[in-house]
Amino acid sequence: MFKSVAHIGLTVKNLDASVAFYRDVLGLKYLGEMFMDGPETEKLFDKSGCCARVAYLKAHGSESVPPVELIEFTSPQAYKDVPSLFKTSISELCFESDDIDKEYKRLSGMGVKFISEPQDFDSTKYGFGKSRAVYFYDPDGNILELIQSQDDIEVIKAQKYELAVCELKDRTEGETDLNANLANAAAILKKYMQDINWVGFYLFKENQLVLGPFQGLAAVVRIELGNGVCGTAFEKNQIMNVPDVHGFPGHIACDLSSRSEIVLPINVNGRTAAVLDIDSPLLSRFTYTDEKYLSEIVNIIQDIWA
Ligand code: SME
Repeated sequence: MFKSVAHIGLTVKNLDASVAFYRDVLGLKYLGEMFMDGPETEKLFDKSGCCARVAYLKAHGSESVPPVELIEFTSPQAYKDVPSLFKTSISELCFESDDIDKEYKRLSGMGVKFISEPQDFDSTKYGFGKSRAVYFYDPDGNILELIQSQDDIEVIKAQKYELAVCELKDRTEGETDLNANLANAAAILKKYMQDINWVGFYLFKENQLVLGPFQGLAAVVRIELGNGVCGTAFEKNQIMNVPDVHGFPGHIACDLSSRSEIVLPINVNGRTAAVLDIDSPLLSRFTYTDEKYLSEIVNIIQDIWA
């Protein structure tokens, strides 16, 4: 019976360049290098005169994670293949991350080529839970994958919201200036929420919604009641969680990179007084966790406002 996965081997053209990528760009721990030659090597690879440089690297995870083995055949030299997911071979080497979006941004910024943006998958009906995944390439074009359990994302989100709630309570305690409190609320949400490009308030004034304190690009100042996501949330007095703003008729675009949006009404003394509006450049950014914790944030704002 097989005991474990001992290592995952990748054939590379230039070992030094690949070690630099896996160690310095991806952040794996370098375990060392060895040289393989002689009759056993020739027999093992069924190639006369065969010799290879072999390096091992390991993710900084649990001890059960198998190392990555990088092989550079110094003789005969490997030919360059075009790796593809759509041919029979080992399809990819998949790494796990606690923050796939941060890693995606970091690696993209370093010039790493990705096949797509991170995508969400719900495999709960098959017993595998939710995940977020993306494919990318190493310097030889070998296909790598990065995956994050979506359940982790929601747990991390919730932990950050707990901190946001504490900080908002601290900052607003004893302070009665509404403008200052809303400005700090926007700044605190910007600090603790990931992948958002706009967060702020529209206040009900002169039968319109008028731009209040916010963080993000300059935005439309006045919104008619019933217009856009904000005006709709205000008029219906209900949370609007829009997974794709391009599919929302009448959406008012303030920042062209926005792809999803959540708007929560703020009720003071029995009347809707404002909305909290948050935009994200990611599709379907806002989940039940966001609705739950943002409602808690709105409750704090309602209490200090009243
Ligand atoms: N998108 C909003 C307008 C405000 S900006 O997003 C800041 C809407 O459709 O109401």
